Amino acid sequence: MSKRVTVPEIIAAKGKRKLSELTAYDYPTALWADKSGVDMLLVGDSLAMVVLGQEDTLSVGMTEMLHHTLAVSRGASRAIVIGDMPFMSYQASVEQALINAGRFMKEARASAVKLEGGARVVPQVRAMVEAGIPVQGHLGLTPQSAAQFGGFKVQGKTAEAAKVLIEDAQALAEAGCFSIVLEAIPSSIAEMVTEAVPVPTIGIGAGPSCDGQVLVIHDVLGLFDRFAPRFVKKYAKLDEVIIKALVKYREEVEQGIFPGPEHGFMIDEQEVKKLDKT
Ligand code: KIV
Repeated sequence: MSKRVTVPEIIAAKGKRKLSELTAYDYPTALWADKSGVDMLLVGDSLAMVVLGQEDTLSVGMTEMLHHTLAVSRGASRAIVIGDMPFMSYQASVEQALINAGRFMKEARASAVKLEGGARVVPQVRAMVEAGIPVQGHLGLTPQSAAQFGGFKVQGKTAEAAKVLIEDAQALAEAGCFSIVLEAIPSSIAEMVTEAVPVPTIGIGAGPSCDGQVLVIHDVLGLFDRFAPRFVKKYAKLDEVIIKALVKYREEVEQGIFPGPEHGFMIDEQEVKKLDKT
């Protein structure tokens, strides 16, 4: 088992090496992603869409997130496991945010949590960091606020919006976030944010200047084709491989090819003969 990546190592990587992060939602995806050597595994609330088949990320709650995060924690021995705080698990009050962040650490054995938002979540971030809970921030197209944005739209496209993004990133870093996800913002703005903060920025649809990148594992593996945002790169088309294997299984069952003798259990011929006599 290799040594687990630490939060100080993530912070120290800024400007030295690019960081990699992938989502994972269960034990097998955690095993695969961990073996790939990525630094961070995010149990994203994208779980709602790519695993549970929901339309957006809003309906997933603490129960599902803790359940899946614990499975990922069991499968990851090297990467930092980050539990994504679901919608309304941290917005209502600092106290509730702290209690729920603590549940990710205690009950789901996460090493950190992630939450969405800038200046408005700074009190929550401060309280978590003071309690010893590492926090990853998330700015730009924050899916939990899609209704406010009028859909899943690129953010930070005006000078005013870009200024707010930079200020939000600085506020999060100052509050103690160890890294900040930048989602769906123009590459030039991501570069400015990256230069403006002392902690790593992790881009998803934010261009090459970020200190690291994150993608949804179902997109990387080609397991989810309901829609693919422009920033997704598919490194495999596993859905085709899986469907082909399952069709073969169905055909072999229908044709009586599976199970073969090698898949069954035999008893001694003498015992069968005894049965015949009864
Ligand atoms: O939920 C998620 O998967 C995320 C990533 C896209 C950053 O928040």
